[in-house]
Amino acid sequence: MILLLLAVFATFAAVSSPLVFAESEVFVVKPYLQLGNSAQLKKSEQLEIVWGNVTTKAPQKWSIEWQGASEKTWRKTDKVTTTPMPIPSLTTTLVFSLTRATIDGLKPGTKFNYRVLKNNEIVFESHGMARKSAKQAYRFAVVGDIGAGSPGQTAVVNQMELQKPDFLVIPGDIVYNSGRVAEYLVRFFPILNSDTSAANRGAPLIRSTLTMGVIGNHDIALTNAWEGTDFSTFRDALGYYLFFFQPLNGPNKIANSPNSTRIVGNADNQKSFIDSAGQRFPCMANYSFDYGNSHWLVLDGNSYMDWSDPKLRQWVDDDLARSKATWKFACFHQPAFSVDEVHSNEQRMRLLVDIFERRGVDVVFAGHAHCYQRTFPIQFKQDNKNLGGLSVGEVPGKIIVDKNFDGKTRTTPQGIIHIVTGGGGAKLYNKAPFSSIEPWLEKYVYAHCFTICDINGTTLKLSQIGTDGNLVDQFKITKSVTVGAADMKGAADTRPKTAPLKK
Ligand SMILES: [Fe+2]
Repeated sequence: MILLLLAVFATFAAVSSPLVFAESEVFVVKPYLQLGNSAQLKKSEQLEIVWGNVTTKAPQKWSIEWQGASEKTWRKTDKVTTTPMPIPSLTTTLVFSLTRATIDGLKPGTKFNYRVLKNNEIVFESHGMARKSAKQAYRFAVVGDIGAGSPGQTAVVNQMELQKPDFLVIPGDIVYNSGRVAEYLVRFFPILNSDTSAANRGAPLIRSTLTMGVIGNHDIALTNAWEGTDFSTFRDALGYYLFFFQPLNGPNKIANSPNSTRIVGNADNQKSFIDSAGQRFPCMANYSFDYGNSHWLVLDGNSYMDWSDPKLRQWVDDDLARSKATWKFACFHQPAFSVDEVHSNEQRMRLLVDIFERRGVDVVFAGHAHCYQRTFPIQFKQDNKNLGGLSVGEVPGKIIVDKNFDGKTRTTPQGIIHIVTGGGGAKLYNKAPFSSIEPWLEKYVYAHCFTICDINGTTLKLSQIGTDGNLVDQFKITKSVTVGAADMKGAADTRPKTAPLKK
């Protein structure tokens, strides 16, 4: 059987080191935490525990137990949902599936222990924390372009885990080269959910840290003549819609409707994908969620999206207008503002900046360019308001720069700060020539690195950290007026103690 499976995974040409799974293996994917379809904070929070296993003829009865960190008794559920995963060539007696169960009844910010049981035997133990309330301080990490299977990726993940973020957001290019299930099994899970922490291995990060995904161009099996994700060529494509369980409050509910990930090719393979993804395809490409006193709007920036479409713009406007959160963040893969030599003309996400500005977005996070970039606080006045459509490239306009903001003593920005944090491990881009540096760009770093943000009420501190734990950028934003300010009085700083930054 082992030899058979070795042969199976060796057929995934895009994956360099073949995996071997045997019936005796408990997990193909070790348990990790997901938010599930829960956009808004509740008094009683829940999370999903998700794991991958191969089903065999031998009976498998899965259950989970959990307890608040200060509780003595364990709560238990054997209500699990198992979804077959579309990996080709596995025998009918050995099917790869994802299984998940819900942990619920948690007060916001509660730390908990959990354990996964197979046939009533404990096979995995870890811990996590429920989403924090608007009254609590919190720390999050953001880094994109991460799943390259590279030394840069393992070092970034290892350092990121040392910072103990409460949650992680990955703004696209989650796994290279095509976002296939087989690639997740080699370049994503073994590194972001490694049993041990080391610069050349990664860390046990996502088993304890809530992780949010954002779809990028390498997550849709993009090819040169791309007319849709081709399920004849890539039967296990679009792993994003299979491995992530996130809010289903996006605008597109119907497969292959305009402004959604399009699928083509073998009809049976398409069907098995849709059966596994369920409502998540194509809805989960765009969604929003709350964490602490922040609201996050996650968008699909891929080239099939026409963000000049009035219905889509209305959805963005409504989502941001509805939120009363102190902090508002937008997050997508393709940056609106970038000076890199590869993607700087790919500016379609500028089409939404007027809405972001009107509705009080503070920071935009993107990836795509394999580097770190930080703009000054900027306001964008688009020249041609009728610009749009699927072929839009450059989006010219006037950029008003707030150079009074210094992020140290003058910390109230006039405009949005746009961050590119695409240094997650993919091959770094070449340094842009000096002439291409725009006056609206404050900082550009050519290194593998990641973003850590600490929010305590009306103060945000952003730290960009390299693979040695070195600080490559840092700034602070403060707000004088906020909806949530009254809530913060007397709120304790509950951030975990973390490794000191090397300055
Ligand atoms: Fe990338």
